Amino acid sequence: MTTPKKLVVFDAYGTLFDVYSISRAAEDMFPHFGVALANLWRDKQIDYTRIVSLSDPNASEGSRYYEPFWSITKKALRYSADKLKLDLSDEQENALMQAYDRLEAFAENRQVLEALRAKGLQTAILSNANADMLERVCKHAQIHHLFDNIVSVERVRQFKTHPSTYALIEESFQVERSSILFVSSNDWDALGATWFGWETVWLNRSGQPSDRLGPRIAHMAKDLKSVLTLLD
Ligand code: LAC
Repeated sequence: MTTPKKLVVFDAYGTLFDVYSISRAAEDMFPHFGVALANLWRDKQIDYTRIVSLSDPNASEGSRYYEPFWSITKKALRYSADKLKLDLSDEQENALMQAYDRLEAFAENRQVLEALRAKGLQTAILSNANADMLERVCKHAQIHHLFDNIVSVERVRQFKTHPSTYALIEESFQVERSSILFVSSNDWDALGATWFGWETVWLNRSGQPSDRLGPRIAHMAKDLKSVLTLLD
C-alpha cells in the first residue's frame, strides 16, 4: 500500500456476491443457453448503464435518462432473451430477476470483513444497484451489518464509471482519498476508480487478462483473503 488505509470500499456483484447462481438458474430454464444468456445479460446491463451516463448533455443533477438498476437489469434480460431467440415467460423473467436478490456472498467474505473491522478499518459498498436491491441482497446474504455504509449510485442518478458515483464515498466518509482502498472484480470499475484517484484492487477470481486501456491497476488479488494480506 502506498499509504495506510482507513476505509475499504467494495463493489457488489461478482466482488461480494457470487453471480454464478444466475447462469445456473438460466441453464436450468434454457439448457445449453444458460452461460450465453447470463453473459449477454450482464454485458447488456452494463452497456445500458453507460448509455445512460453518457447521453445527457446537461447532467448536473444526474442523467435525465437514469432509471434504477433493477429496471435496467430487467430490460437487459428481455433483450438478451430476444437476441438468443429464447421464449422468456413473465414467470421465468421474475424467477431470474429474483435470483439477483438471492445471491450468496463468497465463502470467505464474512471472515474477511470481520477481520478488516477488527483492524479498525471502515467498510462500505459502492454499487450501481439501487438501494432497495442492495438491501435485499445484503440481507439475504446476512452481511449488511458488516458495512459502515452501503452506498447506491442512485443518489447521483449516474452509473459507474461516472466520477460523481465514486465521489459519493468521499462525501459520506470524512477520509483522505489516499486512505481509501477500492476492491472490484470488474476490470472497468477498477479502472474507473483508479482514474478517479483511488488505490484499487482488481479482484480477478477467474484469471482474466488485464485490461489494455489505462494504467495497470495497483493490485490484483484472486479472492478477498488476498485483500486482507495486502493490508497487513
Ligand atoms: C456493481 C456492479 C457493477 O455492484 O457489480 O456496481
